[in-house]
Amino acid sequence: MTQELLRVDDLHTFIGDYHILQGVNFDMHEGGVAALLGRNGAGKTTTLRSIMGLAPPRGRIRFDGRDIVGLSTAAISRLGIGYVPETLGLFSGLTVAETLRLAARSRAPDRARIDWITSLFPALRKFWHSRSGNLSGGQKQMLAIAKALVEPKRLILVDEPTKGLAPSVVAELIAALKQLTQQSTSILLVEQNFHFAASLATETTVLESGQTTWQGMMGDIARDEALRRQLLGVSVV
Ligand SMILES: Nc1ncnc2c1ncn2[C@@H]1O[C@H](COP(=O)(O)OP(=O)(O)OP(=O)(O)O)[C@@H](O)[C@H]1O
Ligand SMILES: [Mg+2]
Repeated sequence: MTQELLRVDDLHTFIGDYHILQGVNFDMHEGGVAALLGRNGAGKTTTLRSIMGLAPPRGRIRFDGRDIVGLSTAAISRLGIGYVPETLGLFSGLTVAETLRLAARSRAPDRARIDWITSLFPALRKFWHSRSGNLSGGQKQMLAIAKALVEPKRLILVDEPTKGLAPSVVAELIAALKQLTQQSTSILLVEQNFHFAASLATETTVLESGQTTWQGMMGDIARDEALRRQLLGVSVV
């Protein structure tokens, strides 16, 4: 097993008066894909927002051996964690080129890095000068992931990337993300599409009502339909 990259210990997050996360625990290893599963409202998005410091948590989050609770989102991002929210965070009036240039913040994006990103997602090269608002759903998702990768990242947090996508586009996304992990970027994936999660992830955490209810290997939950139904409900196939 490779080195531990992220460890979340007894995470509690309050939003206003609501105690949303009530004890989330999991860890993931370098170079892998970990899936965060759970029914609607289980706390998956809040867990990603807590890691990024967007929903300030209590508890402990260690990333690459450093405690990151209390750091600003900008500092967490500089340590090497990228975030692709479910809402994607794209400006529809900007072209693909402009979106990636803006994501590079202070300096022009590294040419070799842009070449690498567009080799992962060839559609972005094809629509380089199209406004992001005109892209298809799958292309928008690819652009949002590309945007998170413009600056080098050790880990990206991706929230429900397959939502609303056709099966052929989902297959394309699986191929691109597999390639990404082979080039040493780890992925923490929130998914409702179990087939997608099972094709990519090795480690899995299941949340229910803001708490970790199960953590283990994806193979164990993929093989055991009764366990899967018990943890995730009947809608999961
Ligand atoms: N800003 C907020 N104010 C009040 N409650 C919130 C807020 N954000 C989230 N919640 C509640 O926190 C719980 C967890 O929400 P979260 O979005 O993390 O769930 P999720 O697992 O991502 O769900 P989904 O699968 O529907 O995306 C839900 O009950 C939700 O209603
Ligand atoms: Mg969510």
